[in-house]
Formats: sequence, C-alpha cells, structure tokens
Amino acid sequence: MTFHPRYTGLIDKYRDRLPVHDDTRVISLGEGNTPLIRLNNIPRLLKKDVDIYVKFEGLNPTGSFKDRGMTMAVTKAVEEGSRAIICASTGNTSASAAAYAARAGITAFVLIPDGKIAMGKLAQAMIHGAVVIQIKGNFDAGMELVKEVGKEAPVTIVNSINPYRLQGQKTAAFEILEELGTAPDFHCIPVGNAGNISAHWMGYCEFHDHGIVNNRPTMVGYQASGAAPFLRGKMVDNPETIATAIRIGHPQSWDKAWAVQRESKGWFDECSDEEILAAQRMLSGKEGIFCEPASATSVAGAMRDITNGKIPEGSKIVCTLTGHGLKDPDTAIKQSTSSVITVEANLKSVKEAILRHV
Ligand code: F0G
Repeated sequence: MTFHPRYTGLIDKYRDRLPVHDDTRVISLGEGNTPLIRLNNIPRLLKKDVDIYVKFEGLNPTGSFKDRGMTMAVTKAVEEGSRAIICASTGNTSASAAAYAARAGITAFVLIPDGKIAMGKLAQAMIHGAVVIQIKGNFDAGMELVKEVGKEAPVTIVNSINPYRLQGQKTAAFEILEELGTAPDFHCIPVGNAGNISAHWMGYCEFHDHGIVNNRPTMVGYQASGAAPFLRGKMVDNPETIATAIRIGHPQSWDKAWAVQRESKGWFDECSDEEILAAQRMLSGKEGIFCEPASATSVAGAMRDITNGKIPEGSKIVCTLTGHGLKDPDTAIKQSTSSVITVEANLKSVKEAILRHV
C-alpha cells in the first residue's frame, strides 16, 4: 500500500508556475485535480473511431471550473490587503466568489441578472453569505457596472479581467497534459466571456514552451446560437439561451480568444439550445455524467464536428465540462424523458410498476 500526500489544491501543486510567494497565505478549498473521463458509449453511438475525454470541472468544490481561478484571485486579493471582492456573474463565478470569500473571512458582492441564474447557483451565493445584488439587466450590464464600481469603491474585482483568475484556470491544461502525456489533437470548450478558452491556451503553451510536451491542441470554442458574438463577428446586445451560464453577448476576453483561434488554427461554432440539451441528456443518460447545459455545449459541438469530419477519425479529443448538472435542477427535470411513477406503498403495486418497465 502506498500512501500519497494529501492533495491541498492547485496553488500548492503548481506553486512554481503561479504568481505566489513562499509566505503567501493560500485560500484554498482543494480545487483542481478533476477527473478526465474517457467516454465509452458516445463514440460508439457516433460510429466513429475517436478517443473522447471529458474533463469534469463540475467536480470542483463549488461545482464549476471557476474555483481554479477564484483560489488565485482571492489569495492575491487577501495578500494585497483587500477586505471585499466583487463580481458580475451568470451564477458560477458568484457561487465560487462567495465560497472563497467565506473561507478567507472577507465580503463578497455579487451582481447577478434578475431571474436568469440557475437556482443552485443562487442558493450557493446566499448560503455562503455573499451580498447578492440582482440587477434588472443581463450579465453584460452587470460587468460594466462592476468595472465602474471597481474604480470608486474599495473592492477587488474577481471576474476574469482579474489576471490572477486566468493564471489559476490555466492549470486545467496542465492536468490534462500530465494525464495524457501529450496534448490532445482537439480541445473543445464552451465560450461565454472567453476567459476559460484563453486560460487553457496559456496553460498548453506554457508546458509546450518549456519543452514538457512537444505539441499543442487545436482549440475549438462553441457558443449557444442566441449568444454567439464570435460567430456574428461582433458583440450581441440581447443574448438569449437556455444555457444561462453562457448568456453573454459582450465577452471580456474578445481579443485574447481570437488570438487563441489564430494561434491554434482552431475555430468557433455555435450550437442551438436543442443540441445543447440533447448533449446534456446523452452525457447523463449514456455516460452517467451530469453536467449543466452550458457545459454540454462542448460535447454538442464536438459530436457535430466529429460527425461531419471536421474533427477527423483517429483524433484524441478533450471536451471541458465546466459545471455540475446539480446547479440547474429545474432545466434537468423539465427536459427529462424519464417518468416518475407514483404507486401505493405496497409490494403488489411496486412489483407491478417494475414489471411494466422490464
Ligand atoms: N460554462 C459555465 C458553466 C460557465 O459558468 C461559464 C461562465 C462558461 C462555461 C464560459 O466560460 O466565460 O470563461 O468563456 N460563467 C461566468 C459566470 C460568466 O459568471 O459564472 P468563459
């Protein structure tokens, strides 16, 4: 039996590749180290010879990839003496900011679009004690307000315009490279504000530039059709999609993400809400992996590009699943095709119900 040292989060693990000092007080909840799960059934159903892995970021402490960036942003905010953090959010950033602020003993202010975030995420912000400010506007409006307030109030912005966020998030690419021993041929990822695609590329380039691996993936970013500024080639003013996490029309990392597309010779594409929900159902029903709708966008897009041959057979593909399905139980229940059968509480009725389904 070999004992391994206790995993204490990504800052401890990648200390030499992150902007921290030896005496920095690290604010961590053990984020990172998420599973890279090889899909068994979806490639078979597609009848294509491809190796697809999903990096299940929904298994971070607050259920999304945001924790990777938040451990860095909050660690640095505390190091710099900040007593409060602020973000605009479609839900996951606010959940993460609220949790890490609680851990650090500081205040989190979160601006969320009124009625447009999934219930689980609102519950998280509230239970962790954040000051929740619902605005009668969308994420993009919230982001502009946060940037303004940041100039006038003693609060640290922890949206991905905070450079420490992307530093933390690049570690997802490190983990993939360590596990596969090589870069995948394609990395498929949902794109909203475009911070995560930029952070992944930073991580892939860093290991490549240091000679740790000798290849880099083609980066493919998928957006929801109703919120697809990268496909329209310009900002979108009234974004709309069932995948509320990526209901964003004015991405903050616009230039960075275009640079990723050029440098990696990748592309952007869009998925309809129906395709996104179908991919979510397929992952949960055929692979046992429950991610939130926005996350399923990566797999929805990948399935289409594998089917049409843009991603050729023989490829090794990683899809990021950015958040956990439990974040948004309402959408899951609404679109589920499984029935809930109510019967009398006796053996005969339960047996009958079972026999009807075998
Ligand atoms: N997937 C999920 C589940 C998200 O929550 C987000 C972004 C993205 C994908 C897109 O990542 O913005 O780096 O391109 N959510 C942010 C939030 C905007 O406020 O939680 P991105």
